[in-house]
Amino acid sequence: TLASLDAVLMRARADGRGVGAFNVIQLEHAHGLVAAAERTGLSVVLQISENAVRYHGSLVGIGTATRALAEASTATCVVHLDHATDPELVRQAIDLGLTSVMFDGSTMPDAQNRDLTAEVVSRCHRAGVSVEAELGEVGGKDGVHAPGARTDPDDAAAFVADTGVDALAVAVGSSHAMTERSASLDLELIARLRAAVPVPLVLHGSSGVPDAEIVRGLRAGLTKINVATHLNAVFTDAVRSALAADERLVDTRRYLGPGRDALRDEAARLLQLLALLARN
Ligand code: G3H
Ligand code: ZN
Repeated sequence: TLASLDAVLMRARADGRGVGAFNVIQLEHAHGLVAAAERTGLSVVLQISENAVRYHGSLVGIGTATRALAEASTATCVVHLDHATDPELVRQAIDLGLTSVMFDGSTMPDAQNRDLTAEVVSRCHRAGVSVEAELGEVGGKDGVHAPGARTDPDDAAAFVADTGVDALAVAVGSSHAMTERSASLDLELIARLRAAVPVPLVLHGSSGVPDAEIVRGLRAGLTKINVATHLNAVFTDAVRSALAADERLVDTRRYLGPGRDALRDEAARLLQLLALLARN
C-alpha cells in the first residue's frame, strides 16, 4: 500500500525505529525493494532521483511503474521523488501519484532555498504529498566528497518553521556516492539537531557509513536513512558474476534477475538493522 512519508516517519520515530529509503533506477530495483519490505514486514521508501529521471528521459515510466508496484504490495511503501531541483518535476510527481518529494535547494542561495521550498510545500501539502528539504549541503553530489559540511541547529529550526517541511536532510558527516563504508557521524550534532528541530531528520549518503555507525546515528536522533550507492554495488556485483560465469549468456533476465535478488536480500538486511529498537 502507498503511504505518505510524513506518516511513516512519525510512526517510526515514535517507536524509536529508523526507516530505509532506497533508490530506484531500473524496474528491478523497485521489484527487489518491494520484495524486501514484504519479506521483513517493514515499510520502505522507494526513491527516484532527478538524476534517474534524467537518465530515463522522463518520470512517467519509472514513476508510474514504481507507484503501481507500491500500491499493489502488502508492504507499506512511500514513493518519493529525490533531490528534485526543478519545481516542474515536482508538479509532475504530484500528478503521477507519488506520495513524497525532496526539494533540494541546498546549492541555492539561502533566501531562494527558503522561498522555493515554502512554495513547493504549499503545493504538495494541498495534494497530500510530504516534503523533505536539505539544509547545509551534504557533499558528494558532484563527485567531490565533503564530509566536513555541517547543518547549524538554530538555522535548521528556523528553516523548518519558515518552510513547513515534513522532514529535513542534514549534513552531519556523510557524503554522497562513497564506495567504502568508512564515514563517521557527528553524533553530538545529531543530538542537538534532534532537540532543536521538530520534524524527522534524514541522513543522505548513508552508503559510506558503517552499520554500527548508522545505529549510533539512529540512537542520536536520525530517522530516515538514504542508501543508493551501496545497493547498486551489490546489484552490480551479482550481475558481473552472472556474466562472468557464462560468456554466451544473452538473455537479460539471466543476469538482471540475480542483481535484483541480491539487492532484495541486502535491502531486507538493512531494513531489519534500521528497525532494531534504536532506543535502549
Ligand atoms: O538521496 C540518496 C542518498 O542520499 C544516497 O546516497 O548513494 O551515497 O548512499 P548514497
Ligand atoms: Zn541524497
